[in-house]
Amino acid sequence: MELDGKVCVITGGAGSIGLAAARLFVAEGARVMLADLDETALRSAVAELGADRAGWQVADAADEEQIAACFDAARNRWGGVDVVLANAGITGTIAPVTEYPADEFDRVYRVHVRGAFLTCKHGLRTMHDGGSVIIVSSVAGLRGDPGVSAYITAKHAQIGLMRSVAKEAAERGIRVNTLHPGPVDNGFQHGLEDRLGKVLGTDATAFFDRQIPLGRHAAPTEIARSLLYLASAQSSFTTGSTLVVDGGMSG
Ligand SMILES: NC(=O)c1ccc[n+]([C@@H]2O[C@H](COP(=O)([O-])OP(=O)(O)OC[C@H]3O[C@@H](n4cnc5c(N)ncnc54)[C@H](O)[C@@H]3O)[C@@H](O)[C@H]2O)c1
Repeated sequence: MELDGKVCVITGGAGSIGLAAARLFVAEGARVMLADLDETALRSAVAELGADRAGWQVADAADEEQIAACFDAARNRWGGVDVVLANAGITGTIAPVTEYPADEFDRVYRVHVRGAFLTCKHGLRTMHDGGSVIIVSSVAGLRGDPGVSAYITAKHAQIGLMRSVAKEAAERGIRVNTLHPGPVDNGFQHGLEDRLGKVLGTDATAFFDRQIPLGRHAAPTEIARSLLYLASAQSSFTTGSTLVVDGGMSG
């Protein structure tokens, strides 16, 4: 049991990667508080995980009052927080930078950057010393790609946030890292590929697979296992780092 008795807060916790992590964390002995915008998905996730091990809060990760309330709820129910997963995310529009709507740029940046910032801020406020904060960035935080300038920029910015917070939190023994998944076999990525395929005039799923040396998308459970590594004492001397789980795509 890698996370026996640990309390974890997961933003975007009703989505594919968030819920895959929640399943694995609960199986490893943790209790999880899921924060998401999607109440129906939250209810069904908690019904599956068990109400004794999981709680939920409808919260916009980029709304300070709502995200603060989520961390307070976890602390009030279970004591302090041990693991924080800043995972909420959206892809945004696909368009070249010359046509990219400024409002859409702000919307994407708000969720990933302001959202991760507030998650770190209120995570640290409610955490026990010695915990772990993980920001789910992306292979898109390590390389450029056309048509997704807001997403690429926001995912790069999360590394800067992580590096800064890692230096601040180290004196409390709290580790802070980013995880960089490559394309995952889930609705988030397939939705992006459907739209990108129309712009490129080609099958975007195959387009991505050709760029991945391992030749395929990741399963959400493969991403969850890397999150477990960063969440647990297995990574006790790892902080300020970028863990890449992309089948070789960014190499
Ligand atoms: N799917 C991929 O291929 C892939 C690859 C690399 C990185 N990522 C990143 O992984 C994270 C999780 O993505 P996923 O693949 O599970 O997608 P997903 O769409 O299944 O999950 C994202 C969840 O975030 C929630 N969300 C969106 N905006 C929110 C907000 N403002 N506040 C709270 N919750 C919000 C959504 O409701 C959803 O449940 C994202 O940050 C994404 O950028 C995904």
